[in-house]
Amino acid sequence: MTDDALVQAAVDARAHAWAPYSGFAVGAALLCADGTVYTGCNVENVTFGLTTCAEQVAILKAVSEGRRTFTKVAVVTPSHPPAAPCGLCRQMMVEFAADLEVLICSPEGVVERTTLAALLPRAFRPADLEDTSA
Ligand code: THU
Repeated sequence: MTDDALVQAAVDARAHAWAPYSGFAVGAALLCADGTVYTGCNVENVTFGLTTCAEQVAILKAVSEGRRTFTKVAVVTPSHPPAAPCGLCRQMMVEFAADLEVLICSPEGVVERTTLAALLPRAFRPADLEDTSA
């Protein structure tokens, strides 16, 4: 799977975004270690708080289909410069993919390559649950 193909999958998913309240359509494409790709778009709700981000949809689809190892995600947003995944999405992704590569994209292609580790330093991880003696 080339980066261009992964970005195209995110662009295609973005076309399904339900974003009538923000007008901010997002597409995500998550590459699994076995080469499969799961996509997502944001799905808004009139109550606002029930809105689900594109990256969350992709992660939930992948995990619910038995995938737990991910190598790369492409996220396409309409802003200039394109937006990085929100904090909630970062935490959702770090649960399964601390070493994830993140492609921050406009609809035309990759604008920035980074990592989840750079976007979410000192993430809350399972080790944080270990010693609760304090
Ligand atoms: N959104 C995402 O889909 N992913 C992010 O990482 C940031 C925000 C969506 C949620 C909402 O539908 C719209 O973008 C504006 O916040």
